[in-house]
Amino acid sequence: MQYTDLIIKNAHMMTLSTFGEIVSGTLVIRDEKIIDIIDGDQHSYQADHIIDAKGALVLPGFVDCHTHLVHSGSRANELQYRLQGMSYQEIQQRGGGIHASVRATRTADPEILYRESLERVNMCLEHGTTTAEIKTGYGLEPATEKKMFDVIHRLNKESDLETVATFLGPHVYPEDQDPEKYLDWLLHEGLQLAKDQAEFVDIYCDIGAYSFEDTERFLNKAKAEGLDLKIHSGQFESLGATGLAADMLAVSADHLDHVAPAEFDALLRAGTVPVFLPGCSYYLRSTYPDARPYLDAGMPVALATDYNPGTCPSLSIPMMMSLAVMHMGFTAKEALKAVTINAAKAINREDRIGSIEKGKQADIIITSVKNLDDVIAMFGCNPVQYVIKKGKLL
Ligand code: NIG
Ligand code: FE
Repeated sequence: MQYTDLIIKNAHMMTLSTFGEIVSGTLVIRDEKIIDIIDGDQHSYQADHIIDAKGALVLPGFVDCHTHLVHSGSRANELQYRLQGMSYQEIQQRGGGIHASVRATRTADPEILYRESLERVNMCLEHGTTTAEIKTGYGLEPATEKKMFDVIHRLNKESDLETVATFLGPHVYPEDQDPEKYLDWLLHEGLQLAKDQAEFVDIYCDIGAYSFEDTERFLNKAKAEGLDLKIHSGQFESLGATGLAADMLAVSADHLDHVAPAEFDALLRAGTVPVFLPGCSYYLRSTYPDARPYLDAGMPVALATDYNPGTCPSLSIPMMMSLAVMHMGFTAKEALKAVTINAAKAINREDRIGSIEKGKQADIIITSVKNLDDVIAMFGCNPVQYVIKKGKLL
């Protein structure tokens, strides 16, 4: 008889590992880790806690590999402008958009910013997200970028969500500073701040944001500093940055609504993770990109919420899975892979999270449904019943 912390029995597991799908199995957890996976219920473990999943679907914790979770205020008011036909760029030009969130985040008291973000973290956990990447980029000046990093790191320490910090100093150009001066800050002090505080750097290359040339300068310097790269590209137009980032072996390229054929080939060559963000298409009422060619080419396609107050104020990964299946050519299994093991790859954590595997961190969801198709079908509903993070039942 071996003693352990937690056993989950009668679990319909989709492991995303070599264990495949187990219709009725047992999961054994000790010291924050998965120590055994058993097909059936024959074993010799004795546990302090036993959860009977009663045949419910059990999954790896979801990984949200692209969010802007830390910001102050709401921009739900922009919805009415959009419904009147105003574009995302027009709203931004009128002082809304990212600039509105920048003003709110700059003036927010650090404690309030933490509390607002913590509420969102709890919403992530309720919907099964156990790890989230979080970007800066609502500061666009040193003190607020630093304040955002402080919140991202404090959430990692004090909440049950594991957070991964990305420096998005080049989100847009600040309203109140000369662009050349800001770019100079980004290339020097900004990248030093990133080296100190972040696992990744990111830049938003698109109309109304950074040009291809500025993006090239920033990514080159970041790479020379040894930083891992991500990119926001092709959301509104393809300016060539998806191909550029892939050629520079970026870890992920995100959005990808508009991608030139040569950029697609570059992604495939590089092994860069393509990250699709269907919540933006939903909320901006734009055409959904077709992910089928990426999936058919065997790329490690990921999905994320892109949670942010302007283009996707939703933190629900199950909703993104449903959108991806209904509108973007994913099968349900591909959507699951895209929010677990492939999303883990997009944040360099595929060795530790993203699948149910012996030795991996025990980040587990017990749903209230029997099958994966139920998750896709119940769009807008939350199929998550219990969440386990690092072996702890939340
Ligand atoms: O990924 N498009 C650029 N950045 C975010 C939106 C940020 C915002 O509108 O606040 C995005 O969609
Ligand atoms: Fe984004």
